[in-house]
Amino acid sequence: MTTQFTVADIELELHRYPSNQESNLQAWDAADEHLIKHLIDTEQAAVSTAIINDNFGALATSLISIDKQWPLLLETDAKTSQLGTLQNLANNKLSNDNIQWINSRENIPTSVELVLMKLPKNLTYFAHQLSRLSQVLPAGTQVLIGAKAKSINKSLLEVLAKNLGPASASLTWKKTRVITCVSDGQARSAPKSVSWTIPELKLEISNLSNVFAASKLDIGARIMLDNMPKGDFKSIIDLGCGNGVLGLHAKQKYPEAYIHFIDDSEMAVESARQNWQLNNLETPDLAGEQATFSWDDCLTHLNEGVRPDLILCNPPFHQGEAITDHIAWQMFLQSWRALKNGGILHVVGNRHLAYHVKLQRIFKNCTTVESNGKFVILQAQKISKKAEPFETEGSETRNESSDSQSDVPHPQSGLYGAKT
Ligand SMILES: C[S@@+](CC[C@H](N)C(=O)[O-])C[C@H]1O[C@@H](n2cnc3c(N)ncnc32)[C@H](O)[C@@H]1O
Repeated sequence: MTTQFTVADIELELHRYPSNQESNLQAWDAADEHLIKHLIDTEQAAVSTAIINDNFGALATSLISIDKQWPLLLETDAKTSQLGTLQNLANNKLSNDNIQWINSRENIPTSVELVLMKLPKNLTYFAHQLSRLSQVLPAGTQVLIGAKAKSINKSLLEVLAKNLGPASASLTWKKTRVITCVSDGQARSAPKSVSWTIPELKLEISNLSNVFAASKLDIGARIMLDNMPKGDFKSIIDLGCGNGVLGLHAKQKYPEAYIHFIDDSEMAVESARQNWQLNNLETPDLAGEQATFSWDDCLTHLNEGVRPDLILCNPPFHQGEAITDHIAWQMFLQSWRALKNGGILHVVGNRHLAYHVKLQRIFKNCTTVESNGKFVILQAQKISKKAEPFETEGSETRNESSDSQSDVPHPQSGLYGAKT
């Protein structure tokens, strides 16, 4: 895997996040190189610049390596993108002092003079991002969008014209183009959330624009809802919660339980929070809060004291455009670490992904709960030789390096990312 990013005089070492993932995927693509080349060719001055959808910080690290004082605003919906950018800045001994971070719902400052953007896969989210820009950018502000040439077509240019202003594309270089869109100064309103119901469960589900399966219930989630595990669960994690549908139904089935909703997408976490409120799921007799909502990379920053007895997981099998099973691996390994002794990981996946092989390796057991032609529901139980620590919903931060459970498989042990 290449980690040397080179454009003109810029030389950086860039890694994806987490950097120990066993994948051959690079931390940037040719569209990143093209955007930087375009800025250098046009002798762009270091004006206040917003960078949107910078996967692992190739754009931000490049601009800071050109000029350490370049004022940057970084907008991302993905926690892994934020963590990856910080990691790449640190590895290249670049400061993040001039970076301001926002997610895709927070206000964009009016001081922005230039925007660099990577085209996201989700065009509804893209339209949302453009309409946000239309609300703050004065007429004439340039928005430069790096994209694969094959993704640029008439309908994409129409999305740009409709939500921000007229656009034109550069010549092709390394199969990519830079689109220059010029703000027309007209503010558009942001698209509304998409809502639908699951009538038989009396659940109403609202979805912000970058949420997985925003327009309808995912088929994998559907079979999970029909096959929830039996038990008297008290602490449940909805890992990769999306709109929160699995955790919401878990609260209906196990009213005594505390639910932790966790996702890499900030919009997903916010949708889960809104859906929790919308569906009035709190059990009246229980004191205190009954759910938390965390924007995180899997269970990386889960509080040390949280020892769930059930983790529900419909893992992603891609990161951005790349198909990969490393996130599922990470989710399974971190679940093993977090679960209390005897606790259960309940997983749904496409049959061909062969998650049973991974679960068997990590948990040393794996049961098929349900399967149809396409999907399978698997269950693995944590059976640890070691006694578990005192179990509370505590407040210390989990520190991977200080994990004292010596029988925990380690990501570097050869197990992590092993080919199945
Ligand atoms: C297949 S979807 C499942 C969503 C929801 N649980 C459902 O069943 O409809 C996988 C989810 O994992 C999230 N995800 C991807 N990478 C992640 C990571 N590193 N940490 C936490 N969540 C992640 C995605 O944003 C997405 O919401």
